[in-house]
Amino acid sequence: MLRHLQAHDDAFQPPLSSRVNLEDYSRKLFDNAVRFEAWVGNDLVGLVAIYCNSKDEDGAFVSNVSVLAGHAGKGIARRLMQFAIAHVVGLGFSSMHLEVDRRAVRAMHLYLALGFRPTAQSEDGSISMRLRI
Ligand SMILES: CC(C)(COP(=O)(O)OP(=O)(O)OC[C@H]1O[C@@H](n2cnc3c(N)ncnc32)[C@H](O)[C@@H]1OP(=O)(O)O)[C@@H](O)C(=O)NCCC(=O)NCCS
Repeated sequence: MLRHLQAHDDAFQPPLSSRVNLEDYSRKLFDNAVRFEAWVGNDLVGLVAIYCNSKDEDGAFVSNVSVLAGHAGKGIARRLMQFAIAHVVGLGFSSMHLEVDRRAVRAMHLYLALGFRPTAQSEDGSISMRLRI
């Protein structure tokens, strides 16, 4: 997973490594998140990681959505997100939320298509989105 995040680092705006230590983040996801993964051979090419800790108003939190550039545009992120949503529904959650940089146009299109709606925008340009389920 660390290798996937490192290979994909520059695709995030701003790069993920400018916000978090990739090794710590990878360990945290491995230990605590529910992960939905797409593999090609030995390569982890797509990853959705969600925290399903609280069933209160906050709901499940989508911490990571990433697909390696060489495998983009094939519906991998959409399918992984659909699996994640089905999992969260199965756990009895009533909502799911995430944060996305407003420059991440592809990600934003995907989330809107899946039914997420913006709920707030912060000064640093990140947009909070929520899916009611
Ligand atoms: C955003 C990202 C996860 C999409 O992964 P992907 O597997 O290529 O996406 P999919 O093939 O499943 O496409 C899903 C949707 O993305 C959107 N999309 C895909 N390519 C697009 C493009 N060139 N322009 C605009 N929207 C696009 C579309 O809404 C598409 O739905 P459609 O097939 O009905 O058109 C991937 O590009 C990525 O990892 N980006 C960098 C990291 C990032 O920004 N992560 C999100 C942080 S919150």
